[in-house]
Amino acid sequence: MPQIIDGKQISAQIKDEVKEKVASLKEQGTTVCLAVIQVGADPASSVYVGNKKKACAYVGIESLSYELPEQTSQEELLSLIDELNNKPEVNGILVQLPLPSHIDEDAVIQAIDPKKDVDGFHPQSVGALCIGQPGFVSCTPAGIIELLKRSGVEIAGKECVVIGRSNIVGKPMAILLLRENGTVTVTHSKTRDLKEVTRRADILVVAIGKPKMITRDYVKEGAVVIDVGIHRNENNKLCGDVDYEDVAPVCSAITPVPGGVGPMTIAMLMYNCVRSIELQ
Ligand code: GUN
Repeated sequence: MPQIIDGKQISAQIKDEVKEKVASLKEQGTTVCLAVIQVGADPASSVYVGNKKKACAYVGIESLSYELPEQTSQEELLSLIDELNNKPEVNGILVQLPLPSHIDEDAVIQAIDPKKDVDGFHPQSVGALCIGQPGFVSCTPAGIIELLKRSGVEIAGKECVVIGRSNIVGKPMAILLLRENGTVTVTHSKTRDLKEVTRRADILVVAIGKPKMITRDYVKEGAVVIDVGIHRNENNKLCGDVDYEDVAPVCSAITPVPGGVGPMTIAMLMYNCVRSIELQ
């Protein structure tokens, strides 16, 4: 049977490390504060935002909560971001996505001071990541690197295949694997013969957003499989982009859903909040 990469346990370990760091900063008179903005009341977003605030309370980071109505204008949101950018006591600013359709997400992301961009979505953060300069790294891909390293998976020299090219996961994931000296291929909906490419992977990161799409015929024997997807199936049960039951027997290590990549995103957000003190 494969090694099951336990995101719950690894994320708990990271949160405890952050908690210690926050306590030692507090002893030196420095508090860490995250502002969390949600526009509208999308139920999934409310769950994520609630979990982020809970994690802040656990590690000792102060959180300021802004729950704005659905009809908030872009101007109003940008003006709140400007206010938070200028508040020295606020170290991190997080605007939960997606935003209502009348608001331009790119404009909002770009309005956040890159020194407070704990999501790592600002073009300056992404650019810094690409050329290996200090900056915030997007939480989910950063969490995947931690999962691999803390599970003893060597990345250097390995064939790494990423399925999906989103700005939040696929692209930064590819850059991070490259930074760890992996040989990286990024695939997407226009990739010809996807199976032929994914079967080359020693490390396969799946972020396509289609429930259980990846079956064992996409996976090389002994590969490490990381599943970023999260969906609810017809029986209200959570599942990923990977057909876990089918794939697990052929791989050397795999992340479950739930309890794999999911909990890492929030742990890395907490890590980025502490990092904001160093970057400021
Ligand atoms: N929506 C889904 N994932 C994320 C995330 O990591 N950050 C923000 N701000 N919104 C999200």
